[in-house]
Amino acid sequence: AEGSDFVVVANRLPVDLDTAPDGSRRWKRSPGGLVTALEPILRNNNGAWVGWPGVPDVEVEPFEDDGLELVPVPLSEREVADYYEGFSNATLWPLYHDVIVRPVYDRTWWEAYVEVNRRFAEATSTAAAQNATVWIQDYQLQLVPKMLRMLRPDLTIGFFLHIPFPPVELFMQMPWRTEIVEGLLGADLIGFHLPGGAQNFLYLSRRLAGQPTSRGNIGVRSKLGVVQVGFRTVRVGAFPISIDSGEMDEKSKRKSIRDRAREIRAELGDPKVIMLGVDRLDYTKGIDVRLGAFHELLLSEKVDPEDVVMIQVATPSRERVESYRHMRGEIESKVGRINGEFGRVGHPVVHYLHRPIPRDELIAYYVAADVMLVTPIRDGMNLVAKEYVACRSDLGGALVLSEFTGAAAELRQAYQCNPHDLDNVADAMMAAIEQDPEDGRRHMRAMRRQVLAHDVDRWARSFLAALDRTGEDTAPTQ
Ligand code: UDP
Ligand code: G6P
Repeated sequence: AEGSDFVVVANRLPVDLDTAPDGSRRWKRSPGGLVTALEPILRNNNGAWVGWPGVPDVEVEPFEDDGLELVPVPLSEREVADYYEGFSNATLWPLYHDVIVRPVYDRTWWEAYVEVNRRFAEATSTAAAQNATVWIQDYQLQLVPKMLRMLRPDLTIGFFLHIPFPPVELFMQMPWRTEIVEGLLGADLIGFHLPGGAQNFLYLSRRLAGQPTSRGNIGVRSKLGVVQVGFRTVRVGAFPISIDSGEMDEKSKRKSIRDRAREIRAELGDPKVIMLGVDRLDYTKGIDVRLGAFHELLLSEKVDPEDVVMIQVATPSRERVESYRHMRGEIESKVGRINGEFGRVGHPVVHYLHRPIPRDELIAYYVAADVMLVTPIRDGMNLVAKEYVACRSDLGGALVLSEFTGAAAELRQAYQCNPHDLDNVADAMMAAIEQDPEDGRRHMRAMRRQVLAHDVDRWARSFLAALDRTGEDTAPTQ
């Protein structure tokens, strides 16, 4: 039969079509943790990946790139503005991250979201073979499960949410809450990072179930891990995502990487302590928080700017969305202020890079850094924290980690902190800077055991195995 037996569907393809200043175009790796996690999975499973090529108005036929079968879904300029920047990233993203900034509810954006989700469902319907397994990813595509099921009842459909699922009190703000929950319930299995997210979703389904609203009644019954939708059983569970830990571990041991790490230290003037942050420039990441805590430590003279330097990689992200512009301004003025007050000519205290860093160079940074700073206000998982741990086979380094990340549930031996409490963040930083090396090795060994045993391959296998089992006890389809 035509089509693929395994199809991953995500807003973005694993590669973006990049236009160089001279107008020439080439494919480059897409940003973000979703791509980091799923790329090796698709490679192992021989499937197709349906997604947007990352720039408006490009129509590209399905093609093969580096062994991956890619199915591009085009978006117009308007759809990028309304569906991607608007509904996905100025409505859903802030709503699902605890309303750190106020979500905007706009009917035009919603209409574009419905329209684009329909296009993804249609493209997937074409790409999938009879009885194929389709795995839909993330908040941009929450209506696809239901739309796809209507088109293709033969498919087995999984959905995974890469960001937190909010408490019902927040979710109820959403004007189209019933449609979104119904959309998701088109899947056979819905996965979240943490049991809390799964609980929130189950509670919400129950809450919306008995509730006749102007927008209809979704009529579900839910119990632990299961929602009954008519004759169909939808399973709900927690599947904490991870990284290709073995690959990171192996790469971090290479001579070329270790040489580069030494060179980075030398370029910084061989300071006693290098602190590192690696994030998309996003207001959820708490980059401003860690800069604030560092500033206080400098002001109080607890750290000496001659001894301690910080590198912050802040990859450009969603730059046309207002709250992202605002956060960029805040961060850059804070960096300028700290360097203005505590730097010397030829010796800044904060080294700030606003550009994507290639993977191997990033690994060298992880190896070079004594203290890794991961301080999000809210983050579904945070793969950077796991990557740092996977790269420290030397058992060196210390991780400062926000309690409000999914990773905090697994990396118990990190210096955990509350990003809303600046003193607490500064204390955690100080503890990491001054850690006893023997304690540090013990903590790192324990965290590495966790990350190496729970890699992304295990994550995908456990999700797909659970998805495979979903048909077993379901009533026959009509
Ligand atoms: N990353 C990268 N280059 C950069 C910055 C980040 O390759 O310049 C990668 C990083 O190694 C990680 C991913 O982007 O694999 C970020 O994932 P995470 O879960 O930490 O955050 P997200 O961006 O998905 O919110
Ligand atoms: C997070 C989201 C992904 C998204 C990535 C990069 O990881 O969960 O769905 O792809 O950020 O963001 P972008 O908007 O550039 O795709």
